[in-house]
Amino acid sequence: MTTTAPRGSGAVSPGAGGGTAGPRRAAIAARTLRTDRWWLEPLLTVVALVLFIAYSTFRAFQNDHYYASPYISPFYSPCITTRCEGSSFPEFITGPAWISPALYILVLPLGIRLTCYYYRKAYYRSFWLSPPACAVAEPHRRYTGETRLPLVGQNVHRYFLYAALVFNVILFYEAIRAFRDETGEWGHMGLGTLVLLANAVLLFLYSVSCHSCRHIVGGRLNSFSRHPLRYKAWTSVSKLNARHMQYAWISLFGVAFADFYVLLLATGTISDPRFF
Ligand code: FES
Repeated sequence: MTTTAPRGSGAVSPGAGGGTAGPRRAAIAARTLRTDRWWLEPLLTVVALVLFIAYSTFRAFQNDHYYASPYISPFYSPCITTRCEGSSFPEFITGPAWISPALYILVLPLGIRLTCYYYRKAYYRSFWLSPPACAVAEPHRRYTGETRLPLVGQNVHRYFLYAALVFNVILFYEAIRAFRDETGEWGHMGLGTLVLLANAVLLFLYSVSCHSCRHIVGGRLNSFSRHPLRYKAWTSVSKLNARHMQYAWISLFGVAFADFYVLLLATGTISDPRFF
């Protein structure tokens, strides 16, 4: 599935000139005639993504405070190295102790966000200004869309979705394990249990609302009437898909918050309220 980068001011074929001299642009010298605060959305996107990247990078390399029994941070789940604290998965990697367990797995959640159709639009606009907003000319002279390296690599998105679905199962598993207390007895529920559960639900909604998921469920069919179950599933996924942007942001903040909550518990900054 090859797509082209979003072009808010209209379709321009790959290779066409861009910027204020674009061949299909209205003959105006101004970069834009818009008078609203069109720059606000890309600015907020930059701020939010930079904050998330800075925080998640720090936590991934910190290699500490990611487990507060019975909770494990989603940044470190599944924890698969022999140095993992509180892991419930096979610890088959025996790498050097200074390599954080998060670094072995983060490429997959990172990959789905990086190649996500929504985030592509968001960061093409906010970081590359291509274009920064609808009806605002971009500074670049050339436009090749996603037809060449490295952006043609965005088409691996569906494979990151498959990996994300596996991660969804793992995060639900860890959330269910959080119904046990420190001694392993079932029947515990603290605020951390709910935080991990909410995080698993939000990330699941982000995955199933994915454009590739919608295509997997309802694509390559000539007639929906002959596939009523797939039509039903496609209709449900399509409703979620309409809110994919919202799920993208809420789940991003949600996963950072879940990690932060575990960090606060692990460092003894707060204690976990217990409901039973
Ligand atoms: S389009 Fe966003 S996760 Fe697939």
